[in-house]
Amino acid sequence: MSDPLIDAALAARLNAYAKFSNFLVGAALEDIDGRIHTGCNVENATYGLTLCAERVAVFKAISEGARKFRRVAVVADTETLTPPCGACRQILWEFCGDIPVVLVNLHGKTETYQLKDLLPKPFDASYL
Ligand code: THU
Repeated sequence: MSDPLIDAALAARLNAYAKFSNFLVGAALEDIDGRIHTGCNVENATYGLTLCAERVAVFKAISEGARKFRRVAVVADTETLTPPCGACRQILWEFCGDIPVVLVNLHGKTETYQLKDLLPKPFDASYL
């Protein structure tokens, strides 16, 4: 059975602007109302200004007023499923808390992790 969140991440991946790495990533974030916010990686010739698919999805969602999230899917074309980088884990924690992170490849392989397990002992506003 197909999952609309995974389908959205697969479609978003096709918009990736990844001319430097050729590594296309798609992300889809489901909010509490069931809306899906998508993102793809957007690279830059300076390399360092590249944005990952996950952060694009989160910032798009936040900028459109969404504030509570249920889960996120991340798609890449790797046999060993691609997890969010450290920066994306921190941003996901800030806005989504301990949501399930669904990793997917192009062959339909999936694994789901809780964000807390990918980012143990996170720094957040509770320390401020
Ligand atoms: N990338 C993502 O978009 N998300 C990930 O989870 C891993 C890495 C992107 C950043 C860069 O455009 C390319 O993949 C190679 O690192």
